[in-house]
Amino acid sequence: MEILLLGNEQLRQKAERIKTIDGEIKSLAEDLLDMMRRGKGIGLAGPQVGRALRIFVVHVDKDTPRVFINPSIIETSTETVKYEEGCLSVPGIWADVLRPKTVRVQAWNEKGRPFNLEAGGILARAILHEYDHLEGVLFVDRLPEHKRDWAMKKFEKSRPHVKGKPPQG
Ligand code: NI
Repeated sequence: MEILLLGNEQLRQKAERIKTIDGEIKSLAEDLLDMMRRGKGIGLAGPQVGRALRIFVVHVDKDTPRVFINPSIIETSTETVKYEEGCLSVPGIWADVLRPKTVRVQAWNEKGRPFNLEAGGILARAILHEYDHLEGVLFVDRLPEHKRDWAMKKFEKSRPHVKGKPPQG
């Protein structure tokens, strides 16, 4: 399993709902947490490792690792906030993204238990960023056009050897 990079069409698919939270899904959640840690990221979603399923993991500072399966965004604050984001699928690029300040989400964990969570700060940011991955959306899509052009150019320049090809690890 490897992390797919910007340019890979699999990152653009809408992920499918998970029908049964079984051992296979539990082990996918563990793999996602493992790869997230190795990449020193704070979140990772199924589509990023070529599994087009509605699952992501998040682990922000001073919090426990969390697994979200079939998440629904119930509510987001009208108040927005700008904060610098990066993505394991877009390595080397960081940019300010405007997002709702808080989010209320409903999901199931890896044990199949439903939960509700109201989050703010970095946790809200990570949840919204990862949720986007399930919809085939990357954080660069949320940048103003000039900033997105800058990000794409910088990304392509940094990896001319992988441009238009599968990632080389
Ligand atoms: Ni990401």
